[in-house]
Amino acid sequence: MLDHLTVVTHPLVQHKLTLMRRKDTSTGSFRRLLREVSLLLGYEITRGLDMTTVRIETPVTEMDAPILDGKKLALVSILRAGNGLLDGLLELVPAARVGFIGLYRDPETLQPVQYYAKVPEALEDRLTIAVDPMLATGNSSVAAIDLLKAKGAKNLRFLCLLASPEGVAVMKAAHPDVPIITAALDERLDDHGYIVPGLGDAGDRMFGTK
Ligand code: URA
Repeated sequence: MLDHLTVVTHPLVQHKLTLMRRKDTSTGSFRRLLREVSLLLGYEITRGLDMTTVRIETPVTEMDAPILDGKKLALVSILRAGNGLLDGLLELVPAARVGFIGLYRDPETLQPVQYYAKVPEALEDRLTIAVDPMLATGNSSVAAIDLLKAKGAKNLRFLCLLASPEGVAVMKAAHPDVPIITAALDERLDDHGYIVPGLGDAGDRMFGTK
C-alpha cells in the first residue's frame, strides 16, 4: 500500500532534477533528463503490482517464475507535458495501454478546460497511472482523475516530477484514494500558479516553446 504522497529521494533522481531546474539547461538536455528520471520514478510507481507465477524451463531446469498478473496497465498522459514522463514509462512497460487527456489552464481562473480525452477500455480492471510533470494548483490533476474515475478507473496512481503543497492538498481533498509519487515537494505556488522554486513551464522547457 503506497502512502498518499511519496517523494523519491534517490540520489540520481535528485541530481537529475537539479540539472532540470537550472534555467540554462538546454531543451535537448531537459528532455533527456526527464526521460531518465521517468525511468527511475517508474520503478517506484510500479511497486507492488500484482504478480503470479508461470512454469518455465531455463537451460538448467524447470521453475515457477514470477510474472505480472492481470490486465495491462493503463498509462494516461495529461497533455502536453505528460508525454515527457510517458515516454520513459513506456520503455519500462511497453505493453501498457495508453490514454491522453488534453487540458489547458485558463490563465484568468487557473481552472482546467478539457479539449481532448481518449482512454483505454476496461479501466475498471487496470491499474491506471496518470502522469503530469507538474502538480501545481491541482485543478488539472483533479479534473483528470475525475474523468478517469467516470470512465471506470478504480485503482489509480498519479506520477509527477514536482508537486506544490497546495496541489497535494487539493488532490488529497478530492481523491484521497490516489497515491501521488513525485521527485520533490516544492515550497509554494506563485500568483500565476507556477511552482516555486520549480523549473518553469515544463511543456515549454521540454519542447522549446515560449
Ligand atoms: N505548469 C508548469 O509547467 N510549471 C509550473 O510551475 C506550474 C504548472
